[in-house]
Amino acid sequence: MRHDVVEKNIGLMGVLIIVVISLGGLAEIVPLMFSPKIVEPAEGIRPYSALELEGRDIYIREGCYNCHSQMIRPFRAETERYGHYSLAGESVYDRPFQFGSKRTGPDLARVGGRYSDEWHRIHLIRPRDLVPESNMPGYPWLENRLVNHERTPRKLRALRALGHPYTDEEIAGAAAAVEGRTEMEALIAYLQGLGTNLQGRR
Ligand code: HEC
Repeated sequence: MRHDVVEKNIGLMGVLIIVVISLGGLAEIVPLMFSPKIVEPAEGIRPYSALELEGRDIYIREGCYNCHSQMIRPFRAETERYGHYSLAGESVYDRPFQFGSKRTGPDLARVGGRYSDEWHRIHLIRPRDLVPESNMPGYPWLENRLVNHERTPRKLRALRALGHPYTDEEIAGAAAAVEGRTEMEALIAYLQGLGTNLQGRR
């Protein structure tokens, strides 16, 4: 190989560098796209119910991810505090996933069932009523706003097109399942489901 040709031609060298780096990247990324452990749901994982899905959208709209991660790392300090570390197969129905890395507040990947619905309601309205030193903002308006149920079936249909196994009945009943529910109820339903359906791992 006549190396000096490459070394004296910066354009050619640039192209070849990109090719080499891309090969390295592809070798890491492509196998993951086909690994069943990562692309298939972990045991017990089901798609979000209509109400949970609306709650998830409120979680995203309100920017909860700016302070909360949903990714328990496989370190003792984390698993003792939060529970079993997060598995890739738990996030297959999360689009987009909410892993995050900012932890002003605790990780929420397994917060489901840790507190009562009423605890969450009070906490979301005025966090300092329950945790005096908290710097989490309150979200009192969630109590007064109803979920927009007209869009719910379309959301389920879009997710089904991406491979989430919603049945026709679930889609047909989606609007009724969330109609008249407050955004607070939807968000709490979402929080209460987080990390609760992974079988045998809690
Ligand atoms: C400015 C940062 C910040 C934002 C934004 C924020 N939080 Fe928090 N959150 C915290 C902090 C700090 C705590 C720990 C103190 C407490 O419990 O209030 C916390 C605690 C929590 C807890 C209790 C977790 C546990 O294991 O004890 C839940 C649930 C929660 N937040 C949900 C939410 C939701 C839902 C949103 C969006 C609507 C949100 N947070 C937005 C900072 C934040």
